[in-house]
Parts: sequence; structure tokens; C-alpha cells
Amino acid sequence: MNILSRNKSLLIITGVLIALVITGYIFLKPGNTAVGDDALYKWVTSETDYVFYKNNPEILPTSSETERAHDDFMRVRINKKAASVLGADGTVPEGSFFPDSSIIVKEIYSDKTSSSPDLLAVMVKLKGAKNNGNDWLWAEYTPKGETEYSVEKEGKVCVKCHRPGRDFVRIFDIVK
Ligand code: HEC
Repeated sequence: MNILSRNKSLLIITGVLIALVITGYIFLKPGNTAVGDDALYKWVTSETDYVFYKNNPEILPTSSETERAHDDFMRVRINKKAASVLGADGTVPEGSFFPDSSIIVKEIYSDKTSSSPDLLAVMVKLKGAKNNGNDWLWAEYTPKGETEYSVEKEGKVCVKCHRPGRDFVRIFDIVK
């Protein structure tokens, strides 16, 4: 191999390597990963470490501020990751933020005596996800996993109500 063609091969190899690094960066960059409905449902339902908000397993009436967006009764549960930032009073301290992989599930019931929820409204913190809305993934599912509100919609109808909350979580102002 003469010097010229060796240089040429080196150039080609370098070019290919640069192209691989660039495409790798584009595809693996967290901001480009969108989370689908099925994946999110599986994530939320396979998580086992939940605690009830205020450790209260009671089914409570939803506040008037939900304007029936969430039906009449609720029970909120939080995974351990999210619970880890809560202060002694059970709320997230003012100015604090939930870490990635925090999960909050609002079980929505039409009736206080129902044995199972009608709907699961979920918020999952994932700053890197392409389809997050204000750093949270927002979705609603039936208990069987059918999508009622797709995570692809980036929580557009959810964030307007949730913005006044602490890190977009409303329950702290509602159930004290
Ligand atoms: C009309 C206002 C409104 C809309 C729209 C709304 N929410 Fe809520 N949401 C609330 C309020 C208020 C609470 C606090 C609990 C309560 O009063 O029922 C809440 C509570 C929650 C909770 C429990 C954590 C928390 O913030 O307290 C989750 C999870 C949730 N909503 C998900 C959603 C999702 C997902 C959407 C969009 C599909 C949505 N919400 C749309 C008002 C709203």
C-alpha cells in the first residue's frame, strides 16, 4: 500500500468514525427518546414500591379544581423515588423538584366504595424524554392498560391545571 492510498483509507476510516459518533449522538441523546404508551403503562404497573400520599389508603373526593377532569373520587400513590424528596409534612419542600423516574399515580374512582379504579392518571418525571411536558410524562390508562390520554400528547391538557402545583403536583395544596 503506498502512502497516498494509506492516507486515503485513514481518511475514509476517520470519516466513517465521525459519522458514527454523530448518528450515535443523535439517536442516543436522551432528548430524542420518546416514551410510548405501552412502555409507560408497563413501567408504572411493574413498579412495586408505592406508598399512598400521606400513607392514607382511603378513597377521597377529588377537589372542585379538577372540574371533573378526573371524575369524583381519588387515591394518590407515589413511588419510593418520588417519596424520597418529601419533607416531614409529606409535601415536597417549596422550590424542590422531583428526581427523574419519580412516578405519581392518581387512581380515579367513580364511587367511594369501588373496589377498583376506573382510570389511572399518571405523571412520570423524565426530563430527557422527547415527549415530556414540563419535564413530566402525562398519560391516562384504564386499569387494563388501554390508553385514555396518550403520552404522545405531551400533557397539553394537563399542564394548564397542574402548573400552579409544586413541581406541577397539585395534591399538596388540596389534601393537607
Ligand atoms: C381541570 C384541571 C385538571 C386537569 C385538566 C388535569 N388535572 Fe390532574 N389534578 C388536578 C387537581 C386539582 C389534582 C389534585 C387532586 C384533586 O383535587 O383531585 C390533580 C391530581 C393529579 C394527579 C396526582 C398528583 C397531583 O398532581 O396531585 C395526577 C397523577 C394527575 N392529576 C394527572 C393528570 C393528567 C395525566 C392529566 C391530563 C391527562 C391531568 N391530570 C389533567 C387537576 C387537573
